[in-house]
Amino acid sequence: MALADRIRSREAVMAVIGLGYVGLPLAAGLARLGFSTIGIDVSAERVERINAGVPYLEDVGAEDLAGPVREGRLRATTNYARLVDADVIFICVPTPIKPNKSPDLSYITAVAEGIAARLRRGQLIILQSTTHPGTTEEEVLPCLEGSGLKAGVDFHLAFVPERINPGDKQFTVENTPKVVGGLTPTCTELAALVMEQFGAGVMRVSSPRVAEMAKLLENIFRSVNISLVNEMALLAERMRIDFWEVIQAASTKPFGFMPFYPGPGVGGHCIPVDPFYLSAKAREYDFSARFVELAAEVNQAMPYHAVEKTAQALASCGRSLKGAWVHVLGVAFKRDVDDPRNSPAERIVELLLNAGARITYSDPHVPQFSVGGSAIRPERTVLKALDMDSLDLSEPDCVLIVTAHTAFDIERVVREARLIVDSMNATGGRTGDRRIFSIGRPNPA
Ligand SMILES: NC(=O)c1ccc[n+]([C@@H]2O[C@H](COP(=O)([O-])OP(=O)(O)OC[C@H]3O[C@@H](n4cnc5c(N)ncnc54)[C@H](O)[C@@H]3O)[C@@H](O)[C@H]2O)c1
Repeated sequence: MALADRIRSREAVMAVIGLGYVGLPLAAGLARLGFSTIGIDVSAERVERINAGVPYLEDVGAEDLAGPVREGRLRATTNYARLVDADVIFICVPTPIKPNKSPDLSYITAVAEGIAARLRRGQLIILQSTTHPGTTEEEVLPCLEGSGLKAGVDFHLAFVPERINPGDKQFTVENTPKVVGGLTPTCTELAALVMEQFGAGVMRVSSPRVAEMAKLLENIFRSVNISLVNEMALLAERMRIDFWEVIQAASTKPFGFMPFYPGPGVGGHCIPVDPFYLSAKAREYDFSARFVELAAEVNQAMPYHAVEKTAQALASCGRSLKGAWVHVLGVAFKRDVDDPRNSPAERIVELLLNAGARITYSDPHVPQFSVGGSAIRPERTVLKALDMDSLDLSEPDCVLIVTAHTAFDIERVVREARLIVDSMNATGGRTGDRRIFSIGRPNPA
């Protein structure tokens, strides 16, 4: 039976390589659609947990995983040899940046080589990892064709960016429209047919490069807008204007405005990383992506501002950072998620430790938090979360709100803490309170 028919009848076998925040929900989603799905990951621990039906990420619930595993539709392995059984292979591995902020494509090329070693006729390869335009054609394609098979003839290749939004209960892998850019029209049609099985819309574009650039536009749009409000928040603080009130006012405009909010910096796997993929690629074309780099620069400065704000708050009580006990609330990169990667809290805690502060933290989603090993703080420190409910909040010299999870009782924080630095307006406009220092608001007089 032709691949298109096997996809329509859901007899096609799916493989997902890289079972993290993107790959695990995808693999579980494909299995729930009825596809026999093979999950492949280098982490033996993750593989074991999947096969036992025990999720390791909050975004995939126990039944989302256990159901397909019990029914035999989802199986995980560390063994690439299982790829021979697959009709469609998704690549969902990390695309980080190196310490000097240059793109690290080594995960993608390692996987492409792993696929090439056992590529067979008729397979469809779909790259989902976020990366710069040209990766599918310049990096993945030559690797796969190293097998001796020809793309568009013997096998199919497409780029379909992932749009998963961790922690989002409304938009999931099942109902978020997809952009599909294949190497050839047939590659595009086959990849679109797979994505259409989820039932959300599919937008076909003329090439993988367009799909790659579209994903970067989406993320850079956010990075630039966040940096704009971050910069304006700094100015507003200096001008003694409440920037949160400004945003509220501007948001009443029913057209041509979309609110973005200042904060302690950007985090996660996308916003602090992806813009550097585009700016690095742009340099190959003698082009300086200035907006992109400026936005990254402004956002990168925000953790430093959060630390400066903490120093100002302590100074208002005659204290310095040195020797002060700062209790951090929330270290995940955003509200209600369990992912601390590239979180602004990482740099904030490093800087506070460098300044001689004593740091503890609470985060119901992140039981352990490691910082250091960076140019800013070579020394590594592993912190264990304290349960906020059993903590006397009047004891720390300062409570610093970095990520305001819904689970935090902010009223209690306001009632009990001696000094609060609020980096995301969690305490919402208690402007008369002399103990509260907020990013985007002038310091209490
Ligand atoms: N997390 C997000 O919100 C998000 C959203 C959209 C796009 N993306 C992009 O998707 C890609 C994956 O991101 P993620 O957040 O899922 O990463 P992740 O770190 O959560 O997961 C990646 C997985 O790949 C595995 N892995 C690494 N090398 C491997 C190899 N050679 N073979 C098999 N498995 C391997 C890791 O063990 C890990 O389980 C990145 O390019 C990211 O930018 C992420």
